[in-house]
Amino acid sequence: MIFYPGGLESALTSTEIRQGIEKFEPWFYAHDLGNGFHTTPAIPPQVVHIHNTRLAMVEAAVALHFGPRVQGLECLDIGCHEGFYAVAMSRHGMSVTGIDAREENLQRARFVAAASGAGVRFRQGRVETLACDEGRTYDLTLFLGVLYHVEDPMLCLRQVAAVTGEMCIVETQVVDEVEGFAEWGAREWTRPYQGIIALINESGEFNAGNRETGVRPMATCPSPKALLFMLWQAGFSHAEILSPPPDAYEQHARGKRVVCAAWR
Ligand SMILES: C[S@@+](CC[C@H](N)C(=O)[O-])C[C@H]1O[C@@H](n2cnc3c(N)ncnc32)[C@H](O)[C@@H]1O
Repeated sequence: MIFYPGGLESALTSTEIRQGIEKFEPWFYAHDLGNGFHTTPAIPPQVVHIHNTRLAMVEAAVALHFGPRVQGLECLDIGCHEGFYAVAMSRHGMSVTGIDAREENLQRARFVAAASGAGVRFRQGRVETLACDEGRTYDLTLFLGVLYHVEDPMLCLRQVAAVTGEMCIVETQVVDEVEGFAEWGAREWTRPYQGIIALINESGEFNAGNRETGVRPMATCPSPKALLFMLWQAGFSHAEILSPPPDAYEQHARGKRVVCAAWR
Protein backbone atom coordinates (compact mmCIF):
# COMPACT_ATOMS: atom_id res chain seq x y z
CA MET A 1 0.00 0.00 0.00
CA ILE A 2 1.39 3.43 -0.93
CA PHE A 3 0.41 6.61 0.91
CA TYR A 4 0.55 10.09 -0.56
CA PRO A 5 0.81 13.45 1.16
CA GLY A 6 -2.64 14.91 1.74
CA GLY A 7 -4.16 11.61 2.81
CA LEU A 8 -4.45 10.01 -0.65
CA GLU A 9 -3.75 6.32 -0.68
CA SER A 10 -2.85 4.35 -3.78
CA ALA A 11 -5.14 1.47 -4.59
CA LEU A 12 -2.24 -0.31 -6.30
CA THR A 13 0.97 -1.98 -5.14
CA SER A 14 4.38 -0.77 -6.34
CA THR A 15 4.57 -3.76 -8.71
CA GLU A 16 1.14 -3.00 -10.16
CA ILE A 17 2.12 0.63 -10.70
CA ARG A 18 5.39 -0.34 -12.41
CA GLN A 19 3.53 -2.82 -14.65
CA GLY A 20 0.79 -0.31 -15.47
CA ILE A 21 3.28 2.37 -16.46
CA GLU A 22 4.84 -0.07 -18.92
CA LYS A 23 1.57 -1.57 -20.15
CA PHE A 24 0.00 1.75 -21.11
CA GLU A 25 2.98 3.25 -22.95
CA PRO A 26 3.16 5.52 -24.90
CA TRP A 27 2.03 8.23 -22.47
CA PHE A 28 0.90 11.71 -23.42
CA TYR A 29 1.57 13.36 -20.04
CA ALA A 30 4.30 13.39 -17.40
CA HIS A 31 2.07 12.01 -14.63
CA ASP A 32 3.53 12.24 -11.14
CA LEU A 33 2.13 9.12 -9.51
CA GLY A 34 3.86 9.79 -6.20
CA ASN A 35 6.55 7.84 -4.35
CA GLY A 36 8.99 8.32 -7.22
CA PHE A 37 6.68 6.83 -9.88
CA HIS A 38 6.08 8.88 -12.99
CA THR A 39 5.30 8.44 -16.68
CA THR A 40 7.46 9.74 -19.51
CA PRO A 41 5.45 11.59 -22.18
CA ALA A 42 6.00 10.75 -25.84
CA ILE A 43 5.44 14.37 -26.89
CA PRO A 44 8.54 16.48 -27.71
CA PRO A 45 10.29 17.71 -24.52
CA GLN A 46 9.83 21.38 -25.48
CA VAL A 47 6.03 20.88 -25.56
CA VAL A 48 5.72 19.21 -22.14
CA HIS A 49 5.74 22.62 -20.40
CA ILE A 50 2.33 23.36 -22.00
CA HIS A 51 0.68 21.31 -19.23
CA ASN A 52 2.42 23.21 -16.42
CA THR A 53 1.16 26.50 -17.86
CA ARG A 54 -2.39 25.27 -18.35
CA LEU A 55 -2.58 23.66 -14.92
CA ALA A 56 -1.18 26.78 -13.23
CA MET A 57 -3.71 28.95 -15.07
CA VAL A 58 -6.63 26.64 -14.27
CA GLU A 59 -5.64 26.43 -10.60
CA ALA A 60 -5.25 30.21 -10.31
CA ALA A 61 -8.64 30.89 -11.94
CA VAL A 62 -10.40 28.28 -9.80
CA ALA A 63 -8.79 29.58 -6.59
CA LEU A 64 -9.72 33.16 -7.47
CA HIS A 65 -13.36 32.35 -8.20
CA PHE A 66 -14.16 29.64 -5.65
CA GLY A 67 -11.69 30.43 -2.83
CA PRO A 68 -12.22 28.07 0.14
CA ARG A 69 -15.27 26.54 -1.61
CA VAL A 70 -12.85 24.51 -3.77
CA GLN A 71 -13.02 21.69 -1.22
CA GLY A 72 -15.97 19.50 -2.22
CA LEU A 73 -16.70 21.23 -5.54
CA GLU A 74 -18.20 19.04 -8.23
CA CYS A 75 -16.08 19.15 -11.36
CA LEU A 76 -16.53 17.66 -14.84
CA ASP A 77 -13.45 17.33 -17.04
CA ILE A 78 -14.68 17.10 -20.65
CA GLY A 79 -12.24 15.36 -22.98
CA CYS A 80 -10.19 14.27 -19.98
CA HIS A 81 -7.71 12.12 -21.95
CA GLU A 82 -5.38 10.37 -19.44
CA GLY A 83 -6.94 12.19 -16.49
CA PHE A 84 -4.08 14.63 -15.88
CA TYR A 85 -6.32 17.60 -15.01
CA ALA A 86 -9.08 15.52 -13.43
CA VAL A 87 -6.61 13.99 -10.96
CA ALA A 88 -5.08 17.41 -10.30
CA MET A 89 -8.53 18.82 -9.42
CA SER A 90 -9.21 15.82 -7.20
CA ARG A 91 -5.99 16.59 -5.31
CA HIS A 92 -7.57 19.94 -4.42
CA GLY A 93 -10.44 18.11 -2.73
CA MET A 94 -12.99 18.27 -5.56
CA SER A 95 -15.33 15.47 -6.51
CA VAL A 96 -14.34 14.87 -10.13
CA THR A 97 -15.83 13.08 -13.12
CA GLY A 98 -13.92 12.77 -16.38
CA ILE A 99 -15.45 11.95 -19.73
CA ASP A 100 -13.72 11.21 -22.99
CA ALA A 101 -14.69 9.82 -26.37
CA ARG A 102 -11.81 7.30 -26.35
CA GLU A 103 -11.81 4.24 -24.15
CA GLU A 104 -8.06 3.80 -24.73
CA ASN A 105 -7.47 7.17 -23.03
CA LEU A 106 -9.89 6.36 -20.22
CA GLN A 107 -8.05 3.10 -19.42
CA ARG A 108 -4.92 5.15 -18.79
CA ALA A 109 -6.92 7.71 -16.79
CA ARG A 110 -8.33 5.01 -14.53
CA PHE A 111 -4.85 3.63 -13.95
CA VAL A 112 -3.43 7.09 -13.15
CA ALA A 113 -6.25 7.77 -10.68
CA ALA A 114 -5.89 4.39 -9.00
CA ALA A 115 -2.10 4.71 -8.78
CA SER A 116 -2.42 8.24 -7.37
CA GLY A 117 -5.14 7.33 -4.89
CA ALA A 118 -7.54 9.80 -6.52
CA GLY A 119 -11.21 8.82 -6.46
CA VAL A 120 -12.07 10.17 -9.90
CA ARG A 121 -14.90 8.59 -11.93
CA PHE A 122 -14.27 8.18 -15.64
CA ARG A 123 -16.72 7.29 -18.35
CA GLN A 124 -16.94 7.29 -22.11
CA GLY A 125 -18.97 10.08 -23.64
CA ARG A 126 -19.00 12.75 -26.27
CA VAL A 127 -19.29 16.46 -25.73
CA GLU A 128 -21.84 16.61 -28.55
CA THR A 129 -24.41 14.75 -26.39
CA LEU A 130 -23.25 15.87 -22.95
CA ALA A 131 -26.37 17.65 -21.69
CA CYS A 132 -28.61 14.68 -22.35
CA ASP A 133 -26.05 12.13 -21.11
CA GLU A 134 -25.36 13.98 -17.85
CA GLY A 135 -28.78 15.48 -17.11
CA ARG A 136 -27.26 17.64 -14.38
CA THR A 137 -24.77 20.48 -13.78
CA TYR A 138 -21.31 20.66 -12.20
CA ASP A 139 -19.95 23.67 -10.27
CA LEU A 140 -16.84 23.65 -12.42
CA THR A 141 -16.35 22.29 -15.93
CA LEU A 142 -13.04 21.98 -17.76
CA PHE A 143 -13.00 22.00 -21.53
CA LEU A 144 -9.29 21.99 -22.21
CA GLY A 145 -7.72 21.31 -25.58
CA VAL A 146 -10.92 19.94 -27.14
CA LEU A 147 -12.74 22.85 -28.79
CA TYR A 148 -10.31 23.06 -31.71
CA HIS A 149 -10.75 19.35 -32.43
CA VAL A 150 -14.53 19.43 -32.89
CA GLU A 151 -16.52 19.82 -36.07
CA ASP A 152 -19.37 21.85 -34.58
CA PRO A 153 -17.99 24.24 -31.93
CA MET A 154 -21.28 26.01 -31.26
CA LEU A 155 -23.14 22.75 -30.60
CA CYS A 156 -20.34 21.67 -28.25
CA LEU A 157 -20.22 24.96 -26.34
CA ARG A 158 -24.00 24.84 -25.86
CA GLN A 159 -23.59 21.35 -24.40
CA VAL A 160 -20.77 22.51 -22.13
CA ALA A 161 -22.81 25.49 -20.96
CA ALA A 162 -25.78 23.24 -20.20
CA VAL A 163 -23.73 21.14 -17.74
CA THR A 164 -21.90 24.10 -16.17
CA GLY A 165 -23.38 25.28 -12.89
CA GLU A 166 -21.02 28.14 -12.19
CA MET A 167 -17.72 28.36 -14.05
CA CYS A 168 -16.15 26.76 -17.08
CA ILE A 169 -12.53 26.95 -18.14
CA VAL A 170 -11.92 26.57 -21.85
CA GLU A 171 -8.44 26.23 -23.29
CA THR A 172 -7.95 26.26 -27.02
CA GLN A 173 -5.71 26.95 -29.92
CA VAL A 174 -6.88 30.16 -31.65
CA VAL A 175 -6.40 31.59 -35.13
CA ASP A 176 -5.54 35.20 -35.92
CA GLU A 177 -8.43 37.63 -35.82
CA VAL A 178 -10.01 38.74 -39.11
CA GLU A 179 -11.89 42.01 -38.87
CA GLY A 180 -14.37 43.19 -41.46
CA PHE A 181 -17.95 43.60 -42.58
CA ALA A 182 -20.17 41.18 -44.46
CA GLU A 183 -22.65 42.57 -46.96
CA TRP A 184 -26.11 41.67 -45.71
CA GLY A 185 -28.64 41.85 -48.54
CA ALA A 186 -27.45 45.04 -50.24
CA ARG A 187 -24.15 46.89 -50.74
CA GLU A 188 -25.01 49.47 -48.09
CA TRP A 189 -26.32 46.97 -45.51
CA THR A 190 -23.49 45.34 -43.62
CA ARG A 191 -22.79 43.38 -40.45
CA PRO A 192 -19.44 43.35 -38.61
CA TYR A 193 -17.70 39.99 -38.17
CA GLN A 194 -17.82 38.67 -34.60
CA GLY A 195 -14.53 36.82 -35.07
CA ILE A 196 -13.89 33.90 -37.38
CA ILE A 197 -13.85 30.11 -37.29
CA ALA A 198 -11.18 28.38 -39.39
CA LEU A 199 -11.86 24.96 -40.89
CA ILE A 200 -9.01 22.51 -40.35
CA ASN A 201 -8.36 19.20 -42.05
CA GLU A 202 -7.20 16.82 -39.29
CA SER A 203 -7.77 13.67 -41.34
CA GLY A 204 -4.05 12.78 -41.41
CA GLU A 205 -3.83 12.50 -37.61
CA PHE A 206 -7.38 11.17 -37.33
CA ASN A 207 -6.82 8.32 -39.79
CA ALA A 208 -3.47 7.51 -38.15
CA GLY A 209 -5.36 6.81 -34.90
CA ASN A 210 -3.99 9.82 -33.02
CA ARG A 211 -5.57 9.78 -29.53
CA GLU A 212 -5.81 13.58 -29.28
CA THR A 213 -8.03 14.31 -32.29
CA GLY A 214 -11.77 14.80 -32.31
CA VAL A 215 -14.29 12.15 -33.27
CA ARG A 216 -14.37 13.33 -36.87
CA PRO A 217 -11.54 14.33 -39.22
CA MET A 218 -12.79 17.87 -39.68
CA ALA A 219 -11.78 20.31 -36.97
CA THR A 220 -12.47 24.00 -36.41
CA CYS A 221 -10.45 26.68 -34.69
CA PRO A 222 -11.91 29.99 -33.45
CA SER A 223 -10.31 33.41 -33.26
CA PRO A 224 -10.33 34.93 -29.73
CA LYS A 225 -13.32 37.17 -30.56
CA ALA A 226 -15.22 34.22 -32.02
CA LEU A 227 -14.54 32.22 -28.88
CA LEU A 228 -15.94 34.97 -26.64
CA PHE A 229 -18.96 35.54 -28.89
CA MET A 230 -19.75 31.81 -29.05
CA LEU A 231 -19.45 31.43 -25.26
CA TRP A 232 -21.96 34.24 -24.80
CA GLN A 233 -24.34 32.77 -27.38
CA ALA A 234 -23.97 29.33 -25.75
CA GLY A 235 -25.38 30.67 -22.49
CA PHE A 236 -22.46 32.04 -20.47
CA SER A 237 -23.20 35.47 -18.98
CA HIS A 238 -19.62 36.64 -19.30
CA ALA A 239 -16.24 35.29 -20.27
CA GLU A 240 -12.70 36.55 -20.27
CA ILE A 241 -9.41 35.48 -21.74
CA LEU A 242 -6.90 35.10 -18.92
CA SER A 243 -3.40 36.55 -18.97
CA PRO A 244 -0.67 33.91 -19.12
CA PRO A 245 1.99 33.91 -16.37
CA PRO A 246 5.48 35.28 -17.16
CA ASP A 247 6.96 31.78 -17.57
CA ALA A 248 4.11 30.56 -19.80
CA TYR A 249 4.48 27.97 -22.57
CA GLU A 250 5.51 29.81 -25.71
CA GLN A 251 2.14 29.41 -27.49
CA HIS A 252 0.24 30.91 -24.56
CA ALA A 253 2.82 33.67 -24.29
CA ARG A 254 2.29 34.53 -28.00
CA GLY A 255 -1.50 34.36 -27.71
CA LYS A 256 -1.81 31.44 -30.13
CA ARG A 257 -3.48 29.37 -27.41
CA VAL A 258 -5.75 30.91 -24.81
CA VAL A 259 -7.22 29.98 -21.46
CA CYS A 260 -10.65 31.49 -21.02
CA ALA A 261 -12.89 31.57 -17.94
CA ALA A 262 -16.64 31.69 -18.56
CA TRP A 263 -19.39 32.10 -15.99
CA ARG A 264 -23.09 31.11 -16.14
C1 LIG B 1 -5.98 17.28 -27.31
S1 LIG B 1 -6.67 16.17 -26.16
C2 LIG B 1 -6.86 17.23 -24.74
C3 LIG B 1 -6.93 16.44 -23.48
C4 LIG B 1 -7.01 17.22 -22.18
N1 LIG B 1 -8.30 17.81 -21.97
C5 LIG B 1 -5.95 18.27 -22.12
O1 LIG B 1 -6.27 19.44 -22.16
O2 LIG B 1 -4.77 17.94 -22.03
C6 LIG B 1 -8.36 15.98 -26.71
C7 LIG B 1 -9.09 14.92 -25.89
O3 LIG B 1 -10.48 15.08 -26.13
C8 LIG B 1 -11.04 13.85 -26.53
N2 LIG B 1 -12.11 14.17 -27.47
C9 LIG B 1 -11.99 14.61 -28.74
N3 LIG B 1 -13.20 14.86 -29.27
C10 LIG B 1 -14.10 14.57 -28.30
C11 LIG B 1 -15.52 14.62 -28.26
N4 LIG B 1 -16.23 15.01 -29.31
N5 LIG B 1 -16.11 14.26 -27.10
C12 LIG B 1 -15.39 13.87 -26.03
N6 LIG B 1 -14.06 13.77 -26.03
C13 LIG B 1 -13.41 14.13 -27.16
C14 LIG B 1 -9.90 13.06 -27.14
O4 LIG B 1 -10.14 11.68 -27.12
C15 LIG B 1 -8.73 13.50 -26.28
O5 LIG B 1 -8.63 12.73 -25.13
